Amino acid sequence: MASQYDQVYAAAMADPEKFWADAASQLHWYKTWDQVLDAGSPPFYRWFVGAETNTCYNALDRHIEAGHGDRAALIYDSPVTDTIRTYSNTELRDAVAKLAGAMKARGVTKGDRVIIYMAMTPEAVMAMLACARIGAIHSVVFGGFAPRELATRIDDCKPKMVIASSCGLEPGRVVEYKPLLDQAIAIATHKPECCFIFQRPMYQAPLQEGRDFDFASEVEKAAPADCVPVAATDPLYILYTSGTTGVPKGVVRHNGGHMVALHWSMKNVYGMKPGEVYWAASDVGWVVGHSYIVYAPLLYGCTTVLYEGKPVGTPDAGAYWRVIEQHKVAALFTAPTAFRAIKKEDPKAELLKKYDLTQFRTLFLAGERADPDTVRWAEDNLKRPVIDHWWQTETGWPIAANCTGIELLPVKHGSPTKIVPGYDVRILDDDGQPVKPGDIGNIVIKLPLPPGCLPTLWNNDEGFKKSYLTRFPGYYNTGDAGYIDEDGYIFIMSRTDDIINVAGHRLSTGGMEEVLASHPDVAECAVVGVADQLKGQVPLGFVVLKAGVSRPEDQIVQELVQLVREKIGPVAAFKQAVVVKRLPKTRSGKILRGTMQKIADAQEYRMPATIDDPAILSEIGEALKPLGYAKRP
Ligand code: COA
Ligand code: AMP
Repeated sequence: MASQYDQVYAAAMADPEKFWADAASQLHWYKTWDQVLDAGSPPFYRWFVGAETNTCYNALDRHIEAGHGDRAALIYDSPVTDTIRTYSNTELRDAVAKLAGAMKARGVTKGDRVIIYMAMTPEAVMAMLACARIGAIHSVVFGGFAPRELATRIDDCKPKMVIASSCGLEPGRVVEYKPLLDQAIAIATHKPECCFIFQRPMYQAPLQEGRDFDFASEVEKAAPADCVPVAATDPLYILYTSGTTGVPKGVVRHNGGHMVALHWSMKNVYGMKPGEVYWAASDVGWVVGHSYIVYAPLLYGCTTVLYEGKPVGTPDAGAYWRVIEQHKVAALFTAPTAFRAIKKEDPKAELLKKYDLTQFRTLFLAGERADPDTVRWAEDNLKRPVIDHWWQTETGWPIAANCTGIELLPVKHGSPTKIVPGYDVRILDDDGQPVKPGDIGNIVIKLPLPPGCLPTLWNNDEGFKKSYLTRFPGYYNTGDAGYIDEDGYIFIMSRTDDIINVAGHRLSTGGMEEVLASHPDVAECAVVGVADQLKGQVPLGFVVLKAGVSRPEDQIVQELVQLVREKIGPVAAFKQAVVVKRLPKTRSGKILRGTMQKIADAQEYRMPATIDDPAILSEIGEALKPLGYAKRP
């Protein structure tokens, strides 16, 4: 007999429109759809065409009207400010409505873009939901990005307003966001009409007369704004993510499909029940934060935890266990890197013994490969299912997972289990032909993508097609390579482009190369992602200096590290580069980045048949040894 999972998967494949219409019926619509799926203009597909809804209404007001106004919606837990504060559905809705009113009063209306550059405080969540409430489109920019990155996003989405925190708090330092915002606006061609600045006590930012307004005073004097009906196909947000160049891609998310998919995932993937506490230990600047700190738990009627802290050092490696106990967390979602950090500090999980985790059911890991050692460590210590699942900014919700709410399947370490119902994943070779089970190939998803996934890139239909749909016509190219075994388990092995994953953060090595190349002494460069015990991968730069440069190499390397920090931001974690005489290339001039990465990681590699000069490879190996790379353990 087919398993529960097989049955649900088959139902979604057999009649996707019925499957998703059933899921959508759980939510509130001002007007239902004329068509569940509009497949009339491939490769573009639209879900719930003709419907009208409001995501904020579904996330907050709907629960209040159902009698759950007093239920906790959000718990702000901030070890860095020593604060814990709970907001009920009513309190959060009222705060959101006031902020939405303040935004309206400053001219923000449906369809306007609003950039949010904020620390992990409740006001960031309020800002996102306030946009949703009045039909404005938010674009959250992670605080670890530098002004230039923020400016690129300002120029691309042309926000009417920016909402920013005065500062963020990193262990041991206050990161002043407002001066970074000022610099970004100075660099950007597009100038936002106004900014709301949320002043935190650690740094009171000076405000620019006429442009900047104090968040708290604006909210104080505002009249609450009601929810505005929007089309299901109106964008809820734009989230920029690294592509293959230094220019980020504006992933668009529509209101209707997003709401339906996330709501479905809370029960079926995460096995949650309304009223339970769900914690995604990420940042609202990443897709995990959008989907699983803010929207999914609230849409489903769960309490979400907003944690402003780290897995270690705030104050110790028991921080996650403390939060789980204190707030009765049922499911935690984080990146494997967080568990590697905890394991490094507390290898025997001694701190875990201090806490009562009775309410805790499941740990979910995503954002990067979950290495089997870390998964086993978590399983052995937590004695709960540890679920690796795979997805990306573009999809907004899991593509592969062990769908605990449907049926807990046996775990295979190294695999995020099976394809989530709604996705039709195939493995194709470079010619677009299907490969045999167990053979590695390009991981693609047959179109149409299920609801919730990106319908396009912001103002860039051509870029959407070029980036994702052209290489394998009829399929969305995930950019990941891997295989599906005989049992239908998927294994994600590597990227097929230059994206690397640093501490679960997605970064483009191409973007870093552009920065290195801008240094006056650099003739040529390459950046590769090398293995790192804590962060999974870290970037490593190779630079060839211009002829005649005689300044000390150490000094140039320091300047390069500083330059990446200034131009991309500390989040790039670019800390090391090596000066080499030349870069290994194919005869046609293509830099052999993959081979360089293998040399650095002391992995076996095949001598590329088309290499220009094989001797360069041993030069590279020698240059890397002083940095501790290219050595067998
Ligand atoms: N604002 C400003 N700076 C920030 C920032 C923010 N919101 N977030 C990170 N940074 C800075 C850090 O301070 C660090 O700066 P440094 O080079 O001066 O030390 C740099 O960006 C790199 O940060 P990070 O990659 O987070 O490394 P870390 O060494 O500070 O911490 C971990 C390592 C593993 C503890 C951390 O990555 C972590 O908590 N990961 C949890 C998982 C996670 O959040 N995943 C996201 C996707 S699910
Ligand atoms: P992001 O868009 O930042 O969420 O990054 C998405 C990318 O991270 C994917 O395309 C994968 O390369 C990688 N990734 C995410 N989750 C996993 C996972 N569970 N296993 C392996 N790689 C993953």
